[in-house]
Amino acid sequence: MKKITIAANWKKYLNEKESIDFVKKLNKYEDLFYNKYVDIILFPQAEHLPAVKDALEIKNVTLGLQDYDYRIKSDSEISSRCHSSGVGLDSCIVGHSERRMLHKEDNKSILEKFHILHARDIYPILCVGETQEQRDLGDTLPTIYKQLPEETPLFNPLPYAIAYEPVWSIGTGNVPSNKEIELVLSGVINSKNQPYLFYGGSVNEDNVEKLLEIDLIDGFLIGGASAKFDSFIQIIKKIN
Ligand code: PGA
Repeated sequence: MKKITIAANWKKYLNEKESIDFVKKLNKYEDLFYNKYVDIILFPQAEHLPAVKDALEIKNVTLGLQDYDYRIKSDSEISSRCHSSGVGLDSCIVGHSERRMLHKEDNKSILEKFHILHARDIYPILCVGETQEQRDLGDTLPTIYKQLPEETPLFNPLPYAIAYEPVWSIGTGNVPSNKEIELVLSGVINSKNQPYLFYGGSVNEDNVEKLLEIDLIDGFLIGGASAKFDSFIQIIKKIN
């Protein structure tokens, strides 16, 4: 059986103390992680990373950056930012719809970041997805194709993930049907890409089992439910 990755995008839900408390509680659930079917990546706020790293005792839970500052241009800067303070980051989310909207990041700059991170041995999770308006116009797949890397970074054997996150589903409780998700994920792998495939958008302990019926899914990018300790544990238990 393949492993499922849970990428916990905590956004700004938890302050530093709450993040540390969360991780300390998680340490007590060590059994959930060994020889089981989940890999966890936690994405706390960047400034909380060193403290979260210190508190974390479970080795197969790793840490990532929610994004990196779009003004950082040089890849050596990115590398040092990501590997600084001994945090040893493994992963970074790019292209989240909130970044696309609030920071006006376009496909070109997002893909630039994606390639730079990937080349610096950081596992990038590239978010793609359509807005409600694009969906209504039947533009879901064309929109997503424009957000994908044009070519598979073949030079780099390190994995990367594409997270399908419909904008209209994030934080709304509305989730596409499994058929719709399958259609998009198949479109992603039928393009020139061979990534791990994640779904994100209102995933919680009540719908995760149904979403797991989608064979193509390798992981979930989870916002709100990943910052609520009990929901998070329930999601892990259901996947296991
Ligand atoms: P949500 O957020 O799970 O709260 O919908 C997902 C995300 O923003 O990555």
